[in-house]
Amino acid sequence: MFGLGSKNIGIDLGTANTLVYIEGKGIVLREPSVVAKNTQTGEIIAVGSEAKEMIGRTPGSIRAIRPMKDGVIADYDTTAAMLKYFMEKTVGNSKPAVMICVPSGVTEVEKRAVIDAARVAGAREAYVIEEPFAAAIGAGLPVMDPTGSMVVDIGGGTTDVATISLGGIVSSRSTRIAGDKFSSAIANYIHQNFNLLIGERTAEAIKIQVASASVEKAKEIESMSIRGRDLVTGLPKSIDIEAVDVAKAIQESVQSIIVAIKETLEETSPEIAADVIDHGIVLTGGGALLKNLPAIISDATKVPVFIAQDPLDCVAIGTGESLKNIEVMRKRR
Ligand SMILES: Nc1ncnc2c1ncn2[C@@H]1O[C@H](COP(=O)(O)OP(=O)(O)OP(=O)(O)O)[C@@H](O)[C@H]1O
Ligand SMILES: [Mg+2]
Repeated sequence: MFGLGSKNIGIDLGTANTLVYIEGKGIVLREPSVVAKNTQTGEIIAVGSEAKEMIGRTPGSIRAIRPMKDGVIADYDTTAAMLKYFMEKTVGNSKPAVMICVPSGVTEVEKRAVIDAARVAGAREAYVIEEPFAAAIGAGLPVMDPTGSMVVDIGGGTTDVATISLGGIVSSRSTRIAGDKFSSAIANYIHQNFNLLIGERTAEAIKIQVASASVEKAKEIESMSIRGRDLVTGLPKSIDIEAVDVAKAIQESVQSIIVAIKETLEETSPEIAADVIDHGIVLTGGGALLKNLPAIISDATKVPVFIAQDPLDCVAIGTGESLKNIEVMRKRR
């Protein structure tokens, strides 16, 4: 795009969604992290929303790939190609400096892969920022102050829990239990209890529409009509699913997120713990929108819990705002 050539960009390269932030402009792209490829030639057929529509519906010659898994790159070439497509779409052929996020606790090799993929995709230089730190900035938490903040970023692949103070992460946990796990737990439950096979996209739709973190409060949610393939007859079938059943299906995953939060709280100093009690825990990422999640976490930790404004955008905003530190990072390198 003309006139944006020299602008640096922030990228939230997520397991479920990729967002691009242009310095001085804000978020300009939000697309699913999905690529559709021709299986014979390797040619890319679609990227982003268009490719996501194809999941579970492709003929033998096309495959819809999610190149990120559990927060890290699972298919390097496809990730680089997807990033290239998103970068060209937003900044054309200019070679921007890029700030890109990685989950907390990734290995040096995984970090390196993200930096290299960004370079291959057209970045002049690339720097990484830990996802919970970016999420906290994007949620408007006072990360630079001598006061403790706690953020829980629940994405598609990972849940990152962190306490932050004075510009750094004090304690953190990253677990691979997040939105994708909720969806697969729902699909498994329906398979086992109703003999019905449902696809990834149907499972996600059920989660978004009726899943509740609290089994008790799920009683207030209406049932949902779903369609899949009957395992006994092999034919398409429609059934009504109760929200209580869906809530039961995701209970184990919800509980493991609570354990991660409790463990991180237990590791913090009494001062930071006191700050967290005063200011509460802030939830970011798409998983933060799971019904009744703040109340369940608050019950378990006895700490107030809030959802950030625009939870799906926080990490991208945080990467974008961190671009102003690029000079410092350059010198450090
Ligand atoms: N209303 C909703 N209720 C429950 N889950 C939701 C809702 N909206 C989106 N999600 C889930 O949020 C997840 C995507 O969130 P997000 O975009 O923050 O993940 P990501 O950043 O791509 O993943 P990660 O950070 O783990 O790499 C998906 O699993 C999606 O199904
Ligand atoms: Mg994320």
